[in-house]
Amino acid sequence: MRVLGIETSCDETAAAVVSDRREVLSNVVHQQLADHQPFAGVVPEVAARAHLDQVGRVVQAALDQSGVGWDGIDAVAATAGPGLIGGVLVGVMTGKALAAARGLPFVAVNHLEAHALTARLTDDVQFPYLLLLVSGGHCQLLVVEAVGRYRRLGTTIDDAVGEAFDKTAKMLGLGYPGGPAVERAAKGGDAGRFELPRPLKGRDGCDFSFSGLKTRVRMAIEGLPPGPMQDRDIADLCASFQAAVADVLAERTGRAVDMFLERHPAGRTLVVAGGVAANQAIRARLQDLAADRGLDFAVPAPALCTDNGAMVAWAGVERFRLGLTDGLDFRPRPRWPLDPDAPKAVGAGVKA
Ligand code: KG4
Ligand code: ZN
Repeated sequence: MRVLGIETSCDETAAAVVSDRREVLSNVVHQQLADHQPFAGVVPEVAARAHLDQVGRVVQAALDQSGVGWDGIDAVAATAGPGLIGGVLVGVMTGKALAAARGLPFVAVNHLEAHALTARLTDDVQFPYLLLLVSGGHCQLLVVEAVGRYRRLGTTIDDAVGEAFDKTAKMLGLGYPGGPAVERAAKGGDAGRFELPRPLKGRDGCDFSFSGLKTRVRMAIEGLPPGPMQDRDIADLCASFQAAVADVLAERTGRAVDMFLERHPAGRTLVVAGGVAANQAIRARLQDLAADRGLDFAVPAPALCTDNGAMVAWAGVERFRLGLTDGLDFRPRPRWPLDPDAPKAVGAGVKA
């Protein structure tokens, strides 16, 4: 069984064909870098128009490269939220139109569920597992119990972790996208030079906070000698920032491991997913944590951590084989929490 998946919720126009035997038959990603670079960030309206321009070509390329053609496709899946609604609409309308024209079932995919289930495509991870989901819009710890069954243990009370990377990059003039730029600059930097806070570290529960860290990065920049910033200062600040983030993620995830094992004593795996999971320093810290706690560790290859069509196609496979298809009247959802019953995080401004 094979599913065509379409992803358009942020700034990647992506499509892929994936089989229920965990084969990625094609995975085409168009990154809208040049469109957003002048603004040093994603502009929703620009993204929506770029998706509209690209989606037909990207879907066709995914079909061509899969080598199976329409006769080999059993269902069409598209990210239907959460995300920038203009882009989500483009993907959903494309997916529905193709499904209708070909007489195929349509699967509306939650973007977060697609990130959450990717480790089952790449590593065949079995339920239940503990998931740290770190992306541009989210920072959450979840127990993944089954397809469609998630328990949120913690979330950010202010900014997402990817957002903190992106804002740090912007303040340092490293441009967009920020995460990879900060990681590159941090190589060879001195992580001990700037003393940055570890927000919420040591506190009960496993919520996150990053806005204070961002403020302290800005204060550190303001404290530098006048004149243009030196490469050394940028490297040291990026290294210090990345170390603070890795520290907080590891400590908060450690607490979540306790909660996870209490609930599921036979639970075996820690999974990290989302764009920030592409970061090697963060991967290494969490791998150490898993080893210390006797858990298996799974993190998809970087190209499957950042937004892509294969994760959407795979979530489509997982849902379709359980009979979970959707009508053509499915309405895209700009907000769509994985665990609607999750208690509010401690603090204001809670994100879904
Ligand atoms: O999952 P994703 O592609 O899109 C969302 O669903 O948000 O995540 C994008 C986020 C951006 O904030 C980007 O800066 C961050 O992931 N990111 C990274 C790295 N690669 C991407 N952050 C840190 N290090 C990286 N290597
Ligand atoms: Zn994402």
